[in-house]
Amino acid sequence: MSRPLHLIIFGASGDLTARKLIPALFNLFRKGRLPDRTRVVGISRRPFRHDQFREQLAEACRRFVLDFDPVSWSEFASAVEYVAADASSREGLQPLFEWFEGADRDQPADRIYYLSVKPELYEPIVTILGETRLSRGSPAGPFRRIVVEKPFGRDLATAQRLNQCLHQHFDSDQVYRIDHYLGKETVQNILAFRFGNTLFEPLWHRQYVDHIQITAAESATVDDRGEFYDHSGVLRDMFQSHLLQVMAMTLLEKPRRWSAEDLRNARRDVLEAVVVPSAAEMKRCVVLGQYAGYRQTPRVNPQSRTPTFAALRLCIDNDRWHGVPVYLRSGKAMKTRVSEVVIQFIRPVRMPFPVPTGGPEANRLTLRLQPREGICLSFVVKEPDTTDGTRLRVSKLTFDYEKEFGRAALPEAYERLLLDVIHGDPSLFMRRDAIERSWEIMDPIIQATESWDEPPFEYPVGSWGPPQAEPMLQSEHDHWQNPEDL
Ligand code: BG6
Repeated sequence: MSRPLHLIIFGASGDLTARKLIPALFNLFRKGRLPDRTRVVGISRRPFRHDQFREQLAEACRRFVLDFDPVSWSEFASAVEYVAADASSREGLQPLFEWFEGADRDQPADRIYYLSVKPELYEPIVTILGETRLSRGSPAGPFRRIVVEKPFGRDLATAQRLNQCLHQHFDSDQVYRIDHYLGKETVQNILAFRFGNTLFEPLWHRQYVDHIQITAAESATVDDRGEFYDHSGVLRDMFQSHLLQVMAMTLLEKPRRWSAEDLRNARRDVLEAVVVPSAAEMKRCVVLGQYAGYRQTPRVNPQSRTPTFAALRLCIDNDRWHGVPVYLRSGKAMKTRVSEVVIQFIRPVRMPFPVPTGGPEANRLTLRLQPREGICLSFVVKEPDTTDGTRLRVSKLTFDYEKEFGRAALPEAYERLLLDVIHGDPSLFMRRDAIERSWEIMDPIIQATESWDEPPFEYPVGSWGPPQAEPMLQSEHDHWQNPEDL
């Protein structure tokens, strides 16, 4: 019989627990994927009773879980407990230590510590777990793993310090640094699509690709996250993590084997090859925006210059991608919520028939990460039955996950990631070197933009960001691909 599993969530009264972690665990439970005798323990300072905590989580799951059913919920919820404890000190965590003593009495359990607290608490909690030897499992006995949410540092120095602290108390194979974009099925499918099809892999090359666009747009505003967001901004919040990881996933070299280390090496190699724009180039490579009304958000500085939108041009200096610009763009309060990768191919060098000036559009492959997940390939066809020579038109081939696999086919990213932690598979988690390299790329960009005299360009809520981001695309034919163009 397998060992029991105890999943300890620090920061259990937070939004992430209710919106993402518990719904994901509940779905895993319904699919029969959690080990028998799994117990989920929420830790935070608030004095909840077990039943109050469960009721609060039930409310969230009714909203966030597709086809919520109360019968499975009550079965699942009976294994969810709450321990009120203050994670900032050893004394404060005493109630948790006592819980462990009781829970491990019959049989020591595997344990996953999930840090979903304010980042200031990461190091104190890691240190306490280390000093009390709660970080130590045994090779054949129960394991101990720790999951660290983002933000992982606010610059290279703080990320390095956190890494040092983690590695002082945990071995590297115990540490799981989350970037939930890597848990999205559509992001993983980039590799299947590219390497599983003879058609696309050879074209994934500077010889055929004109440029690449990666967009992660959100229609939501900063809302009640003003305090966190104003100290972070879009470059730290979205670029250092999600956008660079999606970029790495899109551009990597074929891993030699399907192993966690090879996959992580391949992603790291892309980041290593990024050319950080020089100070002189910075203004041509970065455009910042802030949505109108952002400064009136509660707990945001009324003079704030924090960007809520950014567009960034990067170059990758390796044999495959040399000379192919990669454009990254993300923002809050934009026209719609959409994330996608667009591979824009070059035009045919020569066409053996007359074409209208400006030519037909070149092929484009759009990998829609969310929502309405799918893939779209645009190509040129001859318009039938014309009398004035060959006329060309753009047509599209589309693949839609929902149509192909059904409405509930795509699990939440956290389901995949939590399951991988349980199984000990770190492929979709960030390794120390990749996270530090991401900060090495972003630090000079963030520092340069923070020293600019001009504030970010204002853009209206519900737009595609400031128009000043448009000219950064290198050629006059290029423009940002907005999803309504799909
Ligand atoms: C988080 C950011 O990491 O990702 C948020 O902190 C952002 O600001 C969120 O809203 C976006 O995630 P998703 O999965 O909704 O695109």
